[in-house]
Amino acid sequence: MRVGVIGGGQLARMMVPPAIALGIELRVLAEVESSSAAIAATAVGDYRDAATVLAFARGVDVVTFDHEHVPADVLAALETDGVALHPSPAALVFAQDKLAMRERLGAIGVPCPRWARARSGADVDTFAATVGWPVVAKTPRGGYDGKGVRVVYAATDLADWLAEVGRPGPLADGVLLEERVAFSRELAVLVARSPSGQAAAWPVVETVQTDGICTEVLAPAPGVDPALAAEATATGLRLAGELGVTGVLAVEMFEVPATDEGSAPAYLVNELAMRPHNSGHWSMDGAVTGQFEQHLRAVLDLPLGDPSTRARWTVMANVLGGEHDELYSAYRHVMARDPGLKVHLYGKAVRPGRKIGHVNVSARSLTDARTRATHAADYLAGAIDE
Ligand SMILES: Nc1ncnc2c1ncn2[C@@H]1O[C@H](COP(=O)(O)OP(=O)(O)O)[C@@H](O)[C@H]1O
Ligand SMILES: [Mg+2]
Repeated sequence: MRVGVIGGGQLARMMVPPAIALGIELRVLAEVESSSAAIAATAVGDYRDAATVLAFARGVDVVTFDHEHVPADVLAALETDGVALHPSPAALVFAQDKLAMRERLGAIGVPCPRWARARSGADVDTFAATVGWPVVAKTPRGGYDGKGVRVVYAATDLADWLAEVGRPGPLADGVLLEERVAFSRELAVLVARSPSGQAAAWPVVETVQTDGICTEVLAPAPGVDPALAAEATATGLRLAGELGVTGVLAVEMFEVPATDEGSAPAYLVNELAMRPHNSGHWSMDGAVTGQFEQHLRAVLDLPLGDPSTRARWTVMANVLGGEHDELYSAYRHVMARDPGLKVHLYGKAVRPGRKIGHVNVSARSLTDARTRATHAADYLAGAIDE
């Protein structure tokens, strides 16, 4: 069984150990020679070039993705050639294009923030007149880690983006506007679904974003209302089925607190990712079947593994690049200080704010797991030195 992954980032890299364990041959089409996934059998080429991607795809049984940036015309060429794509382009579009995602989720009755498509300053004013300022503006395509998300207080704050509307590029079809949700916290539901329709869900987790970038994940989400967790999980599974997702689906959600009038806590869907996701990195050490193994099993239509937890709590803390690029004295230090840590580094050059690794800690106490995970991540990043 040969799985081809388009994109050589850390997600492709982290598919390598389970591929080895399961006897799956993993090949990666990476952007550059020195990619994060260079540890696998890697071809180097441009994922925007149909001929390059086709040549790569013909050497594997199924193709999956490390990111959602493969253009529609390349995906269409692969599909026409009979390449088994997981997820399919018809599903993937809802992870590639936030406007398409909002339209579809609205049509199938999944709770979302109020939203609108803006092509002009007048559209922004009209929407803000309904939901109030500020509004959250997003580039429908190509954003990640909060790049492509802006809180705006006036239509003029968006003049540069609105000028791009109608021109080829991520803003061609307009800017996505959303009400700014006063959420109590962010949650994520992670499920995997295979082509034959088997699906499995991990427990609902809490994700902590700092400046739009995920910095911490608590698994399972502490104190989550059981009815809310059940409903959110059911929505994740329903979305996977209705959209025809194959592989891992991450559903980012906002938890909206109960109001004084006695309403139950609720959730709104923020966005979808159709690949292993930062909100599932905890599962590599904290679940019987981690998300990278499950993704491989799902795209190959193998029976899925058990997603249940192996510990009461698992906390994941992301290591973000700091000001200095020498990681390895810190690396020795955190390992010596806490033998219970699971350190995952991505083999990426250190740049400020860039995700370069993560740390998982499982423990009986949430506070203990959180303190140890964030300490190690901050120490590795050079943000603290004791
Ligand atoms: N409508 C919103 N209201 C309040 N905060 C939001 C809203 N949309 C996004 N955010 C914040 O910005 C973060 C990044 O937005 P998201 O749409 O998930 O973009 P990305 O694709 O970069 O992850 C979210 O995790 C959340 O913290
Ligand atoms: Mg997001």
